[in-house]
Amino acid sequence: MLRRGGLLPHQIGGGVMNRGPVIFFSAFLAFAISFFAFVLLPQTQIGRQPLATVDGVANAYPAARPGEAHQGAEIYRANGCVTCHSQQIRQTGNVFDVVLTDAGTNLTAVLTAMNNHLNPAVEFALTDVTNALPKTILKAVPTKAAAEALSKKFTEAGAKTDLRVMPVGPDIARGWGLRRSVAADYLYDTPPLLGSQRVGPDLANVGMRLPDANWHLVHLYQPRAVVKDSAMPPYRYLFTTRKIGATPSADALVFPAGFGPEAGYEVIPTDAARALVAYLQSLRVDASLFEAPMTAPAK
Ligand code: HEC
Repeated sequence: MLRRGGLLPHQIGGGVMNRGPVIFFSAFLAFAISFFAFVLLPQTQIGRQPLATVDGVANAYPAARPGEAHQGAEIYRANGCVTCHSQQIRQTGNVFDVVLTDAGTNLTAVLTAMNNHLNPAVEFALTDVTNALPKTILKAVPTKAAAEALSKKFTEAGAKTDLRVMPVGPDIARGWGLRRSVAADYLYDTPPLLGSQRVGPDLANVGMRLPDANWHLVHLYQPRAVVKDSAMPPYRYLFTTRKIGATPSADALVFPAGFGPEAGYEVIPTDAARALVAYLQSLRVDASLFEAPMTAPAK
């Protein structure tokens, strides 16, 4: 038994004082605070989030996944796609573009505004005012106030302008999405397949980026057939290879030249592969929301 100054360890600090309740309440407090901060508070903030209103249509976003895509989410989980792919786009801020939509009637006043407030190195002509509207006259203005002040110079001259909200950040520069992901994007996902590793690209908006079903099927069967030196593993067991019968199947994968099965054979996706691709096609973050505004591209 270790002795210090003649006292046993349990005698140090108050001798017979019982510390059980103190330890119990400290532990209780620590768990209670974290439960409050990590579970209750988020639950009250976003636990009952309703569908968002988009383009004046109530209860419009997000759209529920079709049944096949819903099954595909399970295939995605079962195959561990989430270990290499995230589904959360990040954004560092917004910049603003000013777009001239209508020059109005006082063209010389608009021309003067252009020469006074746009690129001083360029001398604008009257044709710049009238040609090819709508036209982005100012790109990537860092603040909304500055963009509004500039577009006011044009509205004062009788023109009409639009302010476009353009999200920026590394993920957006990579083409992974149009804006950051927010809680509303995952309303129909149980559980949300957020992922934390990015061995491959983020897939939050892959349905918009790569809409072609055959591309996805070929990519899953043989990633290197469509992406040079791809490091993604192939998922061949989601397909069956069979001898071509009297006529080739309409469902068979269409490979780029030099890839695919040997002559006389065709590759047919299983239901699981089809569902998985339906899920990938359903992944799209394309609505402008109150908490994550953006100017959506024209449909
Ligand atoms: C070991 C890591 C890994 C796993 C597991 C993985 N992927 Fe990938 N994935 C990658 C890499 C790396 C790329 C980039 C190269 C490419 O496009 O093939 C990629 C690319 C993709 C792309 C193209 C995205 C784009 O923007 O070009 C899709 C779609 C995709 N993966 C879907 C899946 C699905 C579905 C699964 C599960 C069945 C999966 N991945 C499993 C690593 C992985």
